Amino acid sequence: MTTRILTGITTTGTPHLGNYAGAIRPAVVASQRSDVDSFYFLADYHALIKCDDPLRIQRSRLEIAATWLASGLDVNRVTFYRQSDIPEIPQLAWLLTCVAAKGLLNRAHAYKASVDKNVEAGEDPDAGVTMGLYSYPVLMAADILMFNANKVPVGRDQIQHVEMARDIGQRFNHLFGSRKEFFVMPEALIEEGVATLPGLDGRKMSKSYDNTIPLFSSSKELKTAISRIVTDSRAPGEAKDPDQSHLFTLFQAFATPDQASQLRNELLAGLGWGEAKQRLCDLLDSELGEARERYHQLIQRPDDLEDILLAGAEKARKVAVPFLGELREAVGLRSFRDQVQSVDTAKKKAAKSARFVSFRDDDGRFRFRLLAADGEQLLLSHGFVDGKAAGAMSKHLQQGGEVDVRLSENGYTLWVDAQCIAESPSYTDAAARDTAVDALRLALQPQGE
Ligand code: TRP
Repeated sequence: MTTRILTGITTTGTPHLGNYAGAIRPAVVASQRSDVDSFYFLADYHALIKCDDPLRIQRSRLEIAATWLASGLDVNRVTFYRQSDIPEIPQLAWLLTCVAAKGLLNRAHAYKASVDKNVEAGEDPDAGVTMGLYSYPVLMAADILMFNANKVPVGRDQIQHVEMARDIGQRFNHLFGSRKEFFVMPEALIEEGVATLPGLDGRKMSKSYDNTIPLFSSSKELKTAISRIVTDSRAPGEAKDPDQSHLFTLFQAFATPDQASQLRNELLAGLGWGEAKQRLCDLLDSELGEARERYHQLIQRPDDLEDILLAGAEKARKVAVPFLGELREAVGLRSFRDQVQSVDTAKKKAAKSARFVSFRDDDGRFRFRLLAADGEQLLLSHGFVDGKAAGAMSKHLQQGGEVDVRLSENGYTLWVDAQCIAESPSYTDAAARDTAVDALRLALQPQGE
């Protein structure tokens, strides 16, 4: 069985070492496994939520696309696309918006953080909050559910969003999936072995803290950034604690175990911070140098990047277009042509078809009968304590849900999910029983077929 892995990167900034070590590098590695089918995309609709600078959006999309490819992503193995090239995603987002509880979205961390900040500042709670920010998790749910991803590699701050995708998908399945579960339940994948890199100041490397080291900057820019890494004030010759040093953590994320233990020993033996920074520069140069070259070549060929992404979108839409068609059908957005026909045949059928009759028995339990077109009883259900359960079961049968008919000598029983839920009257002989079984099978055929 292959696992479908899906993840996206919001295109608002220039990729930094943290994006690479935390997201891109492990995703590229995962995509090389034969039991994995990967979907990686540029979350450029999400970018519009945070950024209203068109040039920056455009630049970032180009840079992030080039970064994925320069990092070794093989577009023949994976499906690599821009979210905004798949019109079915915002369409699905609307279908999901219509089933997502507002209360669920009220609890989203990103929205709540904005509200808390406003309240603290004595402002209106929703000051500056757009519907984009509020609905962010629904769009993300559409990204994930559209391709029925099993695993979604994300940072810890995104776990809640994946859980919301499950909630929303489950609700849709419940409302419209009587014949088939449309959406697979996705799981957030937090890779333990994957580094969360510290930034220049030791906090998590993030563009919102302005503490990043750009991934594919020139050697010179790299050196300038690294010179700004905060260290303690120990002089050369004094022993340094590698485990208290962000510099060492960064080094370790790109080094072999041998290289890491060598630097560890040198720091313990008093290597100066200036020297240690030089070691980091050299390491990054050698680890990322080739990819950096590929990156700069790619950035200079935006036409080729466009072609690659459009081909990826075409691949993704081979899945998205038919799936959205099914979902539209499920919610009732159907062609009138089919509609007229099916109303027609359904009516004709109904006129001469079997019917379900529900009632409450003397013990107060809920039961139903299935009567053939001629009024003969084909089934009597067992007593359900809960009326809803009885209703759900007769609905399951009416809609042609899965059942198992088991014959006995002078009758039959009906089984659903390994439970006996109804039985026939008793017949005088096997022939009478078989005639009734035929009538039963006809009666249980879903309408319109
Ligand atoms: N919200 C994610 C982030 O900022 C990006 C994203 C958008 C995403 N859609 C997604 C991640 C779907 C995984 C799956 O990190």
